[in-house]
Amino acid sequence: MRIAVLGGDGFVGWPTCLHLSDLDHDIHIVDNLSRRWIDTELGVQSLTPMDSIQERCRIWREVTGRRLNFHLIDLAKEYERLKGWLAEHRPDAIIHFAEQRAAPYSMKTDRHKVYTVNNNVSATHNLLAAMVETGVDAHLVHLGTMGVYGYGTVGAAIPEGYLPVKVDTTDGEAEQEILYPTRPGSVYHMTKSLDQILFQFYAQNDGLRITDLHQGIVWGTHTEQTRRHEQLINRFDYDGDYGTVLNRFLIQAAIGYPLTVHGTGGQTRAFIHIQDSVRCIELALADAPHAGERVKIFNQMTETHRVRDLAELVARKTGARVAYLPNPRKEAEENDLVVKNDQFLALGLDPTTLAEGLLDEIVEVARRYAHRIDRSRVPAVSAWTRDLASRVERDPEGTRLRSVSGGTA
Ligand SMILES: NC(=O)c1ccc[n+]([C@@H]2O[C@H](COP(=O)([O-])OP(=O)(O)OC[C@H]3O[C@@H](n4cnc5c(N)ncnc54)[C@H](O)[C@@H]3O)[C@@H](O)[C@H]2O)c1
Repeated sequence: MRIAVLGGDGFVGWPTCLHLSDLDHDIHIVDNLSRRWIDTELGVQSLTPMDSIQERCRIWREVTGRRLNFHLIDLAKEYERLKGWLAEHRPDAIIHFAEQRAAPYSMKTDRHKVYTVNNNVSATHNLLAAMVETGVDAHLVHLGTMGVYGYGTVGAAIPEGYLPVKVDTTDGEAEQEILYPTRPGSVYHMTKSLDQILFQFYAQNDGLRITDLHQGIVWGTHTEQTRRHEQLINRFDYDGDYGTVLNRFLIQAAIGYPLTVHGTGGQTRAFIHIQDSVRCIELALADAPHAGERVKIFNQMTETHRVRDLAELVARKTGARVAYLPNPRKEAEENDLVVKNDQFLALGLDPTTLAEGLLDEIVEVARRYAHRIDRSRVPAVSAWTRDLASRVERDPEGTRLRSVSGGTA
């Protein structure tokens, strides 16, 4: 298949390109490299040394003989170029990763909120409108998030996209399935909730064939293909905005930094290893809905864990200290989370779990590149409200000079 991977230079996009290229697909990466610019804005870099996208593609060709094509296009701002590109290349499938994906970044300031909404909603809508206009009948696979549902405790498993409800009609009780209600907890999650409505409309109005993958938090860094050459290495975010919870604990442990748990650590989240994430995308590609069918929704996760349990697990393995800090997010202190993922299991997913020794591999990667870590970028300081911002802990290590005179500083 000819596959367009939008956002193919990113953390999940890059290993997906390699995985699908290895399966003999013709891969076209479309990316505006905005994620690399955000690193520059934030003054951070990937823990792992990441080459330019052109260099990564060259190395892949050298190692495997397979070609990866790169196209520099901003999906949100260059509608006509996107349309022209689709008309010319006519992919059989499109995988859409190309959004601003960090909740803390989306809550940093009003400018970051505006950027995230403009970028994510326009990227998705431009793509849908251009697919209809060019008549490209590609299967669109989008990466959404489990976070669209919020993390309130409802006491029932989160289904895969749709909820059967009974309504009272004039002819008596009738049953129908509705989109499971969203309850986004950040501007980023809000954009993913809006994406869902855009997909629902274009599937119903234009017969676009769409799969939406509600993904859990991705952990790990290597996949089978990124291990093949050091210059194929994946990016690894550790900073307070883009670093995700388990990966952050592992790098914190590797550099002797306290494991930063926010609030009580009673938040339960859904997780998936990067190797399973790329495998799920392969499985979803092979299971396209038909034109006229409703959007297919999968929960792309393999296990759930409470944050403090993860911190304690990493602490036990590595001897690290756990620091309980004020939570910069506005969220429930404690929640349970039960999620259905029957569809991927039925398609043959064999989950990689935390128990499988891969935690050590990540700590090893972190130790190897520890010299690239700027410790001052580790704390999570983007707060959801002004009030929470005033209580954020910016120095979990306690390295700032403290008054020893006993007076108030
Ligand atoms: N990483 C996770 O834990 C996780 C969890 C759930 C869902 N997701 C979803 O998966 C997708 C990929 O996540 P990721 O971690 O690889 O993110 P990432 O930020 O590493 O990658 C996103 C890529 O999209 C590109 N991009 C952004 N806006 C663009 C635009 N307007 N035009 C062209 N390219 C653009 C960026 O340059 C980047 O290369 C995201 O949509 C994210 O919401 C990720």
